Amino acid sequence: MNKKVNREKIPKHIAFIMDGNGRWAKKRGQIRTFGHRFGYKRMMMAIRHCADIGIKVVSIYAFSTENWNRPQEELDVIFSLIRDNMHTDAEEFIKHDIKVVTMGDITRFPQDMQDKLRDVVERTKHNTRCTFNLCANYGGRADIINAVNKIIAKNPSEPVTEQTFSGYLYNPDLPPPDLIVRTSGEQRISNFMLWQMAYSEFLFIKTFWPDMNEKLIDKCVIAFQKRKRRFGKIEKE
Ligand code: FPP
Repeated sequence: MNKKVNREKIPKHIAFIMDGNGRWAKKRGQIRTFGHRFGYKRMMMAIRHCADIGIKVVSIYAFSTENWNRPQEELDVIFSLIRDNMHTDAEEFIKHDIKVVTMGDITRFPQDMQDKLRDVVERTKHNTRCTFNLCANYGGRADIINAVNKIIAKNPSEPVTEQTFSGYLYNPDLPPPDLIVRTSGEQRISNFMLWQMAYSEFLFIKTFWPDMNEKLIDKCVIAFQKRKRRFGKIEKE
């Protein structure tokens, strides 16, 4: 870990919008899915490294509610990475004391993929060092609409507060992200954690996701630690 990382000010929750796999592959004369395979390995590195530096929650935006529009061959590779590689990596999560949870409507995925995902979640549920929140078939708008429908179904006349509303979101027990990092130079949110990001810090970095490494993660954490978070208040003189 970079010595400049302040152990006392580690973000609790870091979220990555892992973008740029396809462009990284194209630059190397390869097909997009080559980038996803490489990107998967970098995702595992990022989770392990974040856990090692003391981050308690790592969210990865791996598949959005809009990504269904991609070519079937690309979907097949992404699904096989999430279904097979992640299932094989369950041992790795256990070894590093990492709990896996999913965020999003996974019931739209093929049944075998759902089964394997649920198996990894089940096998890692007692781990405590760090939580890996896999955002799959996730959309910020879907998260909010799903919460609204749950509230209506339960008791439409109950007054709703910000606090009670948060309790109906997909993963209400996770703290909101302190830092959201998007790779590949794009500066947009693409329907990620719209409610939860109200006071997140953002970093948009040029690096394509498959070039992500431990040093860059440390640099992101150091940049976060230099930010002054005021949460709407004013600083003490
Ligand atoms: C958001 O941008 C980025 C994501 C939802 C991540 C997409 C990444 C993959 C599909 C690869 C998954 C790879 C592994 C290793 C599981 P967007 O491209 O959905 O949105 P945009 O069109 O606004 O850029």
